Amino acid sequence: MRIRVFETEDQLNKAAALFHGGQLQRKPESVLGLATGSTPVGVYRELVELHVRGLVSFQEAITFNLDEYAGLSKHHPQSYFTYMNQHLYRRVDLRPENIHIPNGEASDLQDECERYDRQLKNAGQIDLQILGLGHNGHIGFNEPDLTLAAGTHLVGLHEDTRKANARFFSSPGEVPALAITMGIAPILQAKTVLLLVRGEDKAAIVSRALAGPITTQCPASLLQTHPNLIVMLDTGAARELV
Ligand code: F6R
Repeated sequence: MRIRVFETEDQLNKAAALFHGGQLQRKPESVLGLATGSTPVGVYRELVELHVRGLVSFQEAITFNLDEYAGLSKHHPQSYFTYMNQHLYRRVDLRPENIHIPNGEASDLQDECERYDRQLKNAGQIDLQILGLGHNGHIGFNEPDLTLAAGTHLVGLHEDTRKANARFFSSPGEVPALAITMGIAPILQAKTVLLLVRGEDKAAIVSRALAGPITTQCPASLLQTHPNLIVMLDTGAARELV
């Protein structure tokens, strides 16, 4: 694994966007695994900037998002579809048919998980997977557990995840209890994984994930086995790494 630590959020965002942009320049038809949450917002902003400057095109790219809340309309202000639309989809030249995100409104959520897995399989290996990190070590919404699922599945969000995400909703009770998440297999099989973490509040989990035992109780620790893991941290998140 390669770990890079940045003094400022701006430096981290720019480095991550350049890394992502480089992937698209080398392989315009890349399959990109995308994350939501507060961490990648600035990275998407920088990527859009690279696109506006004519340096990066998404025209041939295929995207797969990690997750989506279940039971939330895709047009809800806090759906991950809305997030992606605001921060990336409508700001770059991605083709609508190349955008994939689980449909949390599907009448049969189990069917939807299977459909998403088929789409992933048809696209082949993810070239570059962007990840954020939950305070409990989750990646995507693969929450700590005795076992982890390989494929796309319906997951009950842990109370601490719902609490962490309550900041985006008008009341904590509004945070959906269920989500659809990509499983651990396509993440670990991605050719390159770019893990982005900011903030001192994540220093302990960064250290557990990158230097602690490999365990399903900290799903991100499985990334230690990945042959091409790039970690970009700010100084706060890197504080407990020795
Ligand atoms: C988002 C996702 C989550 C977040 C994680 C960190 O698609 O899959 O794993 O990356 O919860 O969220 P932030 O960046 O808001 O701290």
